[in-house]
Formats: sequence, C-alpha cells, structure tokens
Amino acid sequence: MSNQKWRILVVDDEPNNLHLMMQVLGDKYQMAYATSGKEALDIVVKMKPDLILLDIMMPEMDGYETCRKLKADPYISKIPVIFVTAMGKEEHESLGFEVGGVDYVTKPVSVPVVLARVATHLALYNQQRACEITVLERTAELEASQHSAIHMLGEAGHYNDTDTGVHIWRMAAFAGAIARAHGWRAEQAEMLELAAPMHDTGKIGIPDAILKKPGKLDAEEWQIMKNHSRIGHGILCKCDTPLFRMAADIALYHHEKWDGGGYPEGLKGDQIPESARIVALADVFDALTMKRSYKDAWPLDKALKEIRDTTGSHFDPFLVESFFSIQNEIMEIKDTWNRKELS
Ligand SMILES: [Fe+2]
Ligand SMILES: [Fe+2]
Repeated sequence: MSNQKWRILVVDDEPNNLHLMMQVLGDKYQMAYATSGKEALDIVVKMKPDLILLDIMMPEMDGYETCRKLKADPYISKIPVIFVTAMGKEEHESLGFEVGGVDYVTKPVSVPVVLARVATHLALYNQQRACEITVLERTAELEASQHSAIHMLGEAGHYNDTDTGVHIWRMAAFAGAIARAHGWRAEQAEMLELAAPMHDTGKIGIPDAILKKPGKLDAEEWQIMKNHSRIGHGILCKCDTPLFRMAADIALYHHEKWDGGGYPEGLKGDQIPESARIVALADVFDALTMKRSYKDAWPLDKALKEIRDTTGSHFDPFLVESFFSIQNEIMEIKDTWNRKELS
C-alpha cells in the first residue's frame, strides 16, 4: 500500500489542533477528523483508518474511554492509536498504554516527532497485516492440498471398485452426522468426515481378480482381501498430521467388530478407536442400502433391521443408539447424495 492511500483519523475537540495536524500530515496522508469520541467511533467503523491520533481531554467521552471502546471491537481493535495530548504526566501516559494506545505524543507537538511516529506505526501496522494475510493464504492453500489428497486417496482405493460411485462421500457424511449426534465436537466430527472416505485406500494393493470377482471369495482370496486394512494404514500413516493419523486408524480398524470377531486384530469394544467404530457403522449401512454388481439395494427397513440385529456383535450399541436418534438427518443425507448420483 502506498503512503498516499494511508488514512489517518485525527480526533480532537479543539479546531486549532485539528487544523495543525491536517497541516502537518495532510500532504502525505488521506486525512479525516472527528471532534468527539462518539463521532470518532462512527467514522472509524465507516472509514477503517490505518491510524488514529487521539486527544485525551474531550467533553463527554474522553480519549481513554474512546480507546477502550475501539479496542473492544474486534473489527477495528488492531488499528493503532497514538495519543496526542497536553497531559504529559507519567500516570497519564501509562493509562494511555493500558487502554491500548501504541504511542504517546505530547502537546505542543513537535512536527518531526509526529511525522516519525506516524510513519513508524503505519509501517508496523502494514507489516502486521501483510503477515496475517500470508498466514491466511498459506492456511487456505494447505487446507486445499489436504482436501485434494483425501479426494485422491479415497478415489484411488475405490478405483477398481467400479460400482461404488458416491459411496465414500455418502458414508463420510453419515459418519460425520453420527459423530455429532454422539457428542463429538464440531471440528472433530469434521475431521472424521474428511478421514472417512479414505477407509478403503488399501484396496489399491488388492489384485483385480479378487476385487472384481463376481462370486464369493474362497478362504485364501478372503485372506488377501483382508489385507486392505493394513495396506491402507501403511499408506496413510506416512502423513503425520491429526487428520491422517485418524484416517490411518480408521483404515486399520474399520473391519473390527464390537464383540471381537472382526479383523485385523480382533479388538473388542472400546479397544477399537471410536472413529473406526463410527466408520464401520456408516460404511455398512451405506453398503447395504446401495446397489452393487452382485446385489440389489436393500430396502431401508431391511437395512435398519440388519443394523439392529447386529448391534452388540458387529456394532457399538451406544453408537447405534445415536444413529437411530438422527434417522431424519441420515435420510436427508441419503436423498441428497442419491440425487447427485442420478444427475
Ligand atoms: Fe474396507
Ligand atoms: Fe466402504
């Protein structure tokens, strides 16, 4: 930002002082003025100045009070405030800093001091904003790459499962909804929703002949198929972030069962990470209610009955309760994704 565009608001109830500041700063900066604290607050919100020069002794609202109010509003609290005042005692100055001022200039003002302080604080403020923008941009960029990675791994796992369609995205939405209904914090539930589509990433390591076999797998083929949870874990644990650690856990444990009858480790009950227990429920429910090359979509009643019948053996009974408590939401998610699949 060039100096010309920097905006300065001068607040003083004395027209002579305003006039002086306009003269000193008017050539370099875009100036505005206010003659009371109240007027200053209105103008600040409208014009968003880059710096405020604030008198202390003013009728009604004094400079300290005005500064407190400015600092209490998160949209304008970062604008630097320099006090310009005849009150030069130490206690006045320290109160000025206490209420959020960045600097203190005493009247009668010295022109070079005012120019130097204004220039310094504008430069600092500008630098601070540039840093904040960079951080925001980097964060957005990182988030976008992370989402793409999830997308790619999710799709890669199901690349050869030609008939899964929108399964991974729909089951992820179910998983997020179950987590929220089960009392998960919103950020954690969102993380689960991002991690869930990668549950079958390991299928990338399973031979086509097994993945696409039209009939039932024999015992040996089944053993190979089961490896997809370890393979997926092995891939996803390469990225050491909370999201991918969760995804790796889910990949490893999404075929464990509440009664210990699942794989790969035969974990029981809450030995299985809750994230994986949620994904197991969301995954099976979606698999039952969608059409696959080897089976028709089960009617909803039959799928829900299956979930109930296998509660306590396959599924965590407490999670199933949460699942049934949000039936309507589950149906809405299903309808939304079904419409997407058709369009
Ligand atoms: Fe799986
Ligand atoms: Fe799945």
